[in-house]
Amino acid sequence: MTAHTRPGLDELFERRLTFPDFEPQERLARLVGLDDQKARLTKILGLLVNPAGLDAWAQRHHPDAKALLKHVLRRPPLVVLAGDVGSGKTELAETIGDAVARQEKIEITLFPLSLSSRGQGRVGEMTQLLSAAFDYTVEAAAKLKSTNGRARGAVILLVDEADALAQSRESAQMHHEDRAGVNAFIRGIDRLANGQLPAAVVMCTNRLGALDPAVKRRAADILSFDRPNETQRKAVLGGALQALGLTSGQIEKFVAVTGKGKGCHGFTFSDLTQRLLPAIVLDAYPARGVDPARALEIAQQMHPTPPFEEQKP
Ligand SMILES: Nc1ncnc2c1ncn2[C@@H]1O[C@H](COP(=O)(O)OP(=O)(O)OP(=O)(O)O)[C@@H](O)[C@H]1O
Ligand SMILES: [Mg+2]
Repeated sequence: MTAHTRPGLDELFERRLTFPDFEPQERLARLVGLDDQKARLTKILGLLVNPAGLDAWAQRHHPDAKALLKHVLRRPPLVVLAGDVGSGKTELAETIGDAVARQEKIEITLFPLSLSSRGQGRVGEMTQLLSAAFDYTVEAAAKLKSTNGRARGAVILLVDEADALAQSRESAQMHHEDRAGVNAFIRGIDRLANGQLPAAVVMCTNRLGALDPAVKRRAADILSFDRPNETQRKAVLGGALQALGLTSGQIEKFVAVTGKGKGCHGFTFSDLTQRLLPAIVLDAYPARGVDPARALEIAQQMHPTPPFEEQKP
């Protein structure tokens, strides 16, 4: 990609997803303890793609409140998912479109753009990527817009690993190039909002504390993500360990050792699903079955991923 040619749609968004679909529905259902985030995100995205829904609601309950609805409907189409590593932000952002598609009975396309793997190369690349991403989103959404308030379909642009954008434009250390990226992002959000297009942007970042004020101000909602509490750890581990033949008494011990300890933060969701459970299985494989005592030892020896430390902006 040179500075002058726009990356192609396939190059920019390698893994476009269309909802409803069986696979994302399953992935979404597997997420534990995020019911509040799921419900809020579905509602916001649902309204962005189908503003007529709110009109119908007002008609029924508050026929005099039309003017007030503008405040709800004119919010910029941006939701920020912020929080600790491995806490389900990407997984939720990639699959929530399925719930919205089913609820609104329309087809939704996800355009996933990760800013960590791309856009850290040549000067100007992040800005160019973002501008191109918004161009494609505007083009696709404009085709789906309809005049009767109910879109024929919708687009979700996922800007993942957006830490580079979560830096304040006011920060003195902020590189000129990053600032241009933030500006391109804000311009893109404003384009979608002004066009009242059936499109929404979901941005994921670990660095809420450093989120640019102009980005923050535009967010219709900021959803935060944390490490799993006891109930959530039990929900993630319980089914898997039970299937391996462990008793509920034994499972309780796993829930306890994966929690906060003295001077130690607890396991992340991804520590449980992507490190601990595989480690237990692979330790036993292929010679024998899983031994509960040995499995607990593995859990006790494993160190949770350190929390993401907010740098001072
Ligand atoms: N709430 C959850 N319930 C069940 N599994 C989860 C949950 N959150 C995360 N996981 C598991 O952890 C994996 C990583 O999650 P994800 O990639 O969404 O984390 P993230 O919040 O985007 O982290 P990062 O900030 O590092 O990008 C998921 O694929 C899933 O297996
Ligand atoms: Mg992620």
